[in-house]
Amino acid sequence: MSDVTESVDVHVPISTAYNQWTQFESFPEFMDGVESISQTDDRHSHWVTNVGGARREFDAEITEQHPDERIAWKSTGGDTSHAGVVTFHRLGDEDTRVTVQLAWQPQGLVEKVGSIVGMDNHQIKADTARFKKFIEQRGTETGQWRGGTATPGAQDTGAVQDVPNPSPTTESQDDIVDVLFRQHRDIMETFIRVQAAASEAKQRLFGELTDLLHTHESGEQQVVHPVTRTDTPDGHLVAMACIAEERQADQMIAELKKLGTDHPQFDIKLEKFQQAVLAHAAREEQDEFPLLSQLPAERRQAMADQLRTTQAARN
Ligand SMILES: [Fe+2]
Ligand SMILES: [Fe+2]
Repeated sequence: MSDVTESVDVHVPISTAYNQWTQFESFPEFMDGVESISQTDDRHSHWVTNVGGARREFDAEITEQHPDERIAWKSTGGDTSHAGVVTFHRLGDEDTRVTVQLAWQPQGLVEKVGSIVGMDNHQIKADTARFKKFIEQRGTETGQWRGGTATPGAQDTGAVQDVPNPSPTTESQDDIVDVLFRQHRDIMETFIRVQAAASEAKQRLFGELTDLLHTHESGEQQVVHPVTRTDTPDGHLVAMACIAEERQADQMIAELKKLGTDHPQFDIKLEKFQQAVLAHAAREEQDEFPLLSQLPAERRQAMADQLRTTQAARN
């Protein structure tokens, strides 16, 4: 088994840090090797991971859950064995140390070599740094589930519940960063669905994907990048870089459309395109969204409304 551990200090209360780690479906926001997680019930989830191009799927169950202390899960079946433990230590009212430990069985050559050269350590460092940025930027968790697992001597501290956090995830208060994050996730999920489909379904889903991408990017170009360019400090270069990448994406879409979903090269080209879109989304999330987050809340919410209107008019 490969095993890596990393700690990170985050500037949020312990309950906020803990609550976020109960939201398994949000892990892909900060865990780079995780493509998607769908929660099947309070204790079970289905994971799709992709490390160095090696795609794995497995089911996982929560084995321990003690509010504000510890969450542990392990795989129960699928392509690989995987386990994770996250522990939380209170450093102060507003500061928490989060320690993440992951263990898994490397499968193919890529994963084995990756383990040997320390790619795993590199990845978990990047993942915990992204978690820090994600939670500190939001200042609040995306939701919470504070049920506990019954273990001898341990008290279950709360009723089993799934409470979506009212702010900022409610539709009316969504700001531009929330909306863009959600659209990025929808796009990535659609990529996975296109990859998994065949023949007519693949063609239809690829059509959906290109519509989503065009709607998203044109919305950004009309509503988002101009604000980044003129109204945020040093935003000019960030906006220019984003627009240049979006033009390249347009070209790649045109090439894929010309090729057609039945072409033997389609999947390989789609994979390359997906990597480019992922890198582009990561650039926006790391460089542009923090600039937008500095704008006043009313402005960010007004931008979200404007984006919705612009995109609805396009569809
Ligand atoms: Fe973009
Ligand atoms: Fe984007």
